[in-house]
Amino acid sequence: MRISSCFVLPVGEEDMNLLRQPTSRRAFLTSSLAVGAGALGAGLLEAGAGEVAAEGGITQGDADILRFLSALETLETDFWQQYNELGGVQDSEVQGGSGSPTYTAALQVLDGDMPQYIHDNTEDEFTHFTFINAYLVAQGKQSVNLDRFRTLPSSKAKGAQKIKRLTNLMQLTVDTSWYTRYRSRTKNPDFGDSFPQAVPDLNNGQFPAIPRSDKDLAPKNHLQAIANTAGFHFATIEQGGSSLYPSLAQRVTSPEVLRILISIGPTETMHFQTWMDKAGNAPPLTDPTNGLTFPDLNSPPFGGEDFQTNLIMPEPTIFLDRKFPVCSIVRPTETAGAAEGAVAFLTRDGLFRGQSSEFFAFLNDLARRADAAQRAR
Ligand SMILES: [Fe+2]
Repeated sequence: MRISSCFVLPVGEEDMNLLRQPTSRRAFLTSSLAVGAGALGAGLLEAGAGEVAAEGGITQGDADILRFLSALETLETDFWQQYNELGGVQDSEVQGGSGSPTYTAALQVLDGDMPQYIHDNTEDEFTHFTFINAYLVAQGKQSVNLDRFRTLPSSKAKGAQKIKRLTNLMQLTVDTSWYTRYRSRTKNPDFGDSFPQAVPDLNNGQFPAIPRSDKDLAPKNHLQAIANTAGFHFATIEQGGSSLYPSLAQRVTSPEVLRILISIGPTETMHFQTWMDKAGNAPPLTDPTNGLTFPDLNSPPFGGEDFQTNLIMPEPTIFLDRKFPVCSIVRPTETAGAAEGAVAFLTRDGLFRGQSSEFFAFLNDLARRADAAQRAR
């Protein structure tokens, strides 16, 4: 399936000039993303996966992996931006929004530093997609532009920018099984194992992780449930990134592209561990408006080492083959189908509720291409 060239940034002199200039990230985005499709862009799309560039550039397979990662990082940036506008630190590094003091206070129940961590995570994601796009252009490959899919509404709460978004944080279905997956000493998803949910309700409904409007700022336990949902969602997303990078790294060809993946990937893991710690601080409660319950993870039927909230480092578990001793690892890291699996996971998460069929077609095509990439020998 060929990517429609109208979705894709061409590699033109204008892009390269932007990369050479010490311009601001925001200026790069607003300028470069407005460029239309060109002949060179169409030509590059003809290259097959794994095809080696003629003049020492990266393979098309490596570009396909990077393009998929660029898209996901763009999507991550979009929703982290929404969190930052309402609950983070709005400053020159992460601009936009003016904060919701009441929502921010609810987040700070999980940790007083939540606004700073949200800010830093947002900035990191911004740099990830901006860097990957710039690297692709420098290698004569297309960067990725999702701007045409910015169609979803913003929160109506005071403090949020009223602009169109790529992602939806107001109807999430949050898979919290990472909480037990990283605490298991005997199971690994790469062996086909599944794991119980820490917050079963979150995995079985649609819940906001940001206030949809200022009406969501009360009653108190309703707002705290929204903040708790955010706290678990942060970790759900970042554990996904922690797995995705090592999964895809196994199929890249260029040592430099490998370096990119194994340098960005661990920052996702730094995020994940931070958020795993904060999610453990989410106060047990029931939202009086919808029944969403956050259990006390230190009490039966939870509790024990699998659930204790201060366990934020991975328990060692089975890896590669049961004949080996257990090992403390990121899990899963199976490479087959990793990109398409990530899209399916994020779709089920609800982040893309309301998105167009064109959006899903484009994202799934990027994922298919990334999963078709093979390491050239
Ligand atoms: Fe990232």
